[in-house]
Amino acid sequence: MAAGAEPVVEFIPQQKHAFHGCKASGTGAWLAVRGLTVYASGTMQGPQRIVVLNPKGGSGKTTIAINLASHYATRGLTPLLMDFDPQGSSMRWIRKRPPNLPEIRAVAAFERDSRLTRSFQLRAPEGTARVIVDTPAAVPAHGFPDLTRDAHKIIVPVMPSDIDIHAASKVIADLLLVAKIRRGDHRIGVIANRVRRNTLVYQALMRFLGTLGIPIVATFRDSQSYVRSAELGLGIHEMKSYLVREDLEQWEPLIGWLEEGVQAGVAPGVVSAV
Ligand SMILES: Nc1ncnc2c1ncn2[C@@H]1O[C@H](COP(=O)(O)OP(=O)(O)OP(=O)(O)O)[C@@H](O)[C@H]1O
Ligand SMILES: [Mg+2]
Repeated sequence: MAAGAEPVVEFIPQQKHAFHGCKASGTGAWLAVRGLTVYASGTMQGPQRIVVLNPKGGSGKTTIAINLASHYATRGLTPLLMDFDPQGSSMRWIRKRPPNLPEIRAVAAFERDSRLTRSFQLRAPEGTARVIVDTPAAVPAHGFPDLTRDAHKIIVPVMPSDIDIHAASKVIADLLLVAKIRRGDHRIGVIANRVRRNTLVYQALMRFLGTLGIPIVATFRDSQSYVRSAELGLGIHEMKSYLVREDLEQWEPLIGWLEEGVQAGVAPGVVSAV
């Protein structure tokens, strides 16, 4: 078994009577255990995969992807940043990154390398703890299944404007209906980005998400910290903390949601009551 692999047997309860059922699905299986449905990935190998997706341009995908990468790098959880956007914004940020900082691996997934198979090009090298996928604007719904396959978590950043809220409802519907992500898997989380609280549109966004039953896993204010840190090839977690205190606090719920189930060795966030 490869390093970092978790034996699936850990998910099978000690007492046989507590085991209520098992259903194969995708690369893994749903195990009904003591009133919980637990998704055990087929191999439980490989890093946690986080996809940041919203076809609406400028919603904050790259900002969130690079800051996640920087966060995990500072925690010693070596990340691989996959840039699927031909604009290459994440790759540009990586190139600005000072060499003395914790390692972030990167792959320009938008480039096809004819010398490599696609799966080899997109593999996570040994020692990668998190894969973060930055997706482009204007991805059509039929592209969602490929981008979200094997994703432990899918983050949808939404800005609180009427146009963005309307567009987000389609994204969520397409994730559920086209990519066949099950709501009960708790894999989809929305980030309300560039928010000014207490505005009418913010309240509209909250109401709308409430009706969809999709959690808002973080709310980020409009902050120059994101702009300044990105210019330096840094994430906000690598800035002087007194400059970014408020922003760092806003990241805590997101980090908590992403880590759900990781420690237990369960595919993160895919534990739900039966
Ligand atoms: N919370 C925030 N506060 C201030 N500026 C932000 C915030 N989030 C994103 N931005 C800025 O908004 C702009 C668009 O963000 P970003 O590039 O992350 O969006 P995107 O969804 O990746 O865009 P695209 O669809 O073109 O790839 C950038 O200039 C970024 O610095
Ligand atoms: Mg982008």
